[in-house]
Amino acid sequence: MCRHLAYVGPQVTLARLLTEPSRGLYEQSWQPRRQRYGTVNADGFGVGWYPQDPAVGEGDSDEGFALPGRYRRAVPVWADANFTELARTIRSGAVLAAVRSATAGTTQDESAAAPFRDGRWLFSHNGAVADWARLPTDLTAAELLGLEAHSDSALLWALLTRRLRQGQPPGGALAAVVRQVAAARPAARLNLLLTDGRTIAATAYGDTLWYRLGSDPGSGSASGSVLVASEPDDAPGDWHEVPDRSLLLATTAGVRVMPLRPPGAVCRSPLPPAHDDTTKDALRQHPRRKDPHVMNESRFTLDDRLPADYFTASLRADVLGGLATAPRTLPPKWFYDKRGSDLFEQITRLPEYYPTRAEQEILTRRAPEIAALTRAATLIELGSGSSRKTRLLLDALTAGGTLARYAPLDVSASALEEAGEAIVRDYPGLRVAATVADFEQGLALSDEPGPRLLAFLGSTIGNFDAEQRKVFYRTLALSLTSDDVLLLGADLVKDTGVLIRAYDDATGVTAEFNKNVLHVLNRELGADFEADAFEHVAVWNTEHERVEMHLRSRAAQTVKVRDLDLSLDLAAGEDLRTEISCKFRRESLTAELKEGGFTVRHWWTDPQSRFALLLAVPN
Ligand code: SAH
Ligand code: AVI
Repeated sequence: MCRHLAYVGPQVTLARLLTEPSRGLYEQSWQPRRQRYGTVNADGFGVGWYPQDPAVGEGDSDEGFALPGRYRRAVPVWADANFTELARTIRSGAVLAAVRSATAGTTQDESAAAPFRDGRWLFSHNGAVADWARLPTDLTAAELLGLEAHSDSALLWALLTRRLRQGQPPGGALAAVVRQVAAARPAARLNLLLTDGRTIAATAYGDTLWYRLGSDPGSGSASGSVLVASEPDDAPGDWHEVPDRSLLLATTAGVRVMPLRPPGAVCRSPLPPAHDDTTKDALRQHPRRKDPHVMNESRFTLDDRLPADYFTASLRADVLGGLATAPRTLPPKWFYDKRGSDLFEQITRLPEYYPTRAEQEILTRRAPEIAALTRAATLIELGSGSSRKTRLLLDALTAGGTLARYAPLDVSASALEEAGEAIVRDYPGLRVAATVADFEQGLALSDEPGPRLLAFLGSTIGNFDAEQRKVFYRTLALSLTSDDVLLLGADLVKDTGVLIRAYDDATGVTAEFNKNVLHVLNRELGADFEADAFEHVAVWNTEHERVEMHLRSRAAQTVKVRDLDLSLDLAAGEDLRTEISCKFRRESLTAELKEGGFTVRHWWTDPQSRFALLLAVPN
């Protein structure tokens, strides 16, 4: 039911956006391709556009924002010959348009056709709320009587307008309305689209949503515009699908996609809070931006693919599955909140922690060869962290002239944001498409242009045991094509003293990093771990050829995990194992990769043979 789009960017004619593109909004009125409900959108249409010059006159602006004009009809868009005339001649740098399929029992005249308007805001709804007239609402009589039309969309608009007038940011307001309505009408389809002519906020909730950056359809410009639409047209450019149950925030400077919390969920998601800037940001506790959707640089997108309940459900499962019974273990990914990511960066600079320097030495020497061998158009990196070493690859691949896109993936949103913003600043021609995801829960690789070089550096592969590595290689092999190449960093077996010192440094940074997981558990699950009641221990496990980090209970103690209603009785000297760091040998690593679906083509080490970097292709 309905298709809509919003555009912000350089001035273009309405025709360029609406009527000219094959499969564009105009055609979607009679032949949508991806619409999930209904067949045609012939009950009306509307377009709102912001005037060419910034508003100046009294009444023409809203705090410096231009006020939009509208053209709406209650006929199919193809039946209005005047519209094509207007579309050919009206130019604008910000547009919101919709073609309508009316929900039964709603107003049929043009007042019910989007866009709805309030001051500088334009709004459209693609979806339907069953039984909407009985939706519980606290709207006042004045607000109800002021509805632009008798329809589910007009009611949603009234709920949203109230929040916007209270000064709530567009993303927070949209998310709050979706949660409020979905709580009362779980089957509601709520693809909402909102713009003030500078930013676009949208939800994907029950129907399709796509976006395209740098999509100025008139000028052929490579950047500086964004188009958000129910479905893609056939004009050239990279369309990205927004997952269902997401919030999208876009400006010409970038796009951010975040999961929408389900109604009633605990507030741990990255959504911009409606009122409360002190809301806990869980593991993404990087400083909150006042306006979180504005990226510092164009060409940078951050797509948050973690499920809305990731930081509660996964952590709970890991604690219950790993800590509640002996031997007590936790997966290492919980180290990496903002503080943990910063501590890891400090570790990489420690004199004892040789792996980063050794891998850097190899990359310094081999990056030009890697660029020539792979001619990669996209560099994907798993567990990218600060992306510091990656710059050697970016330098070589951009010098080689093949690289168009860098796609880092990490569970730490703060690390991705910091690294991504710095990289787009330093590599002017490069797009950075970052993804917040857990690579243990499937690999969300999108259809980036190939050939693709997939880097997994730092010997993070060593943080998996043999069984996990097997699953990981198989998943990876299935995600790559025969054009793609894997670049894997692996730390090698060596003198035990050197290894232990790397994980138990003299200044205690690694101990702090290890204990950081206790702070994460205290914060996220209301646990009462005392960091000082544990000793950091690094152990060499000869059988499995791995360093293990443990937290050893200094005395018998009971720890409570409030949110899990759990009590852990720890004996004096009892260990929690927080990380394994496997060390590799050439022959066995090559063999396990072969079994997992990869053939090693190149194997490079640093001059002291401490670390290996290998290039492998899918079998
Ligand atoms: N590649 C960088 C950083 C290594 S630190 C380097 O070589 O220096 C490990 C990185 O992997 C961290 O940034 C951490 O946030 C990320 N990470 C750990 N477990 C992860 C998981 N399950 N899914 C996604 N990222 C993960
Ligand atoms: C990220 N990972 C490969 C590091 C390692 O060496 O296992 C994490 C680390 N743990 C302690 N120091 C560094």
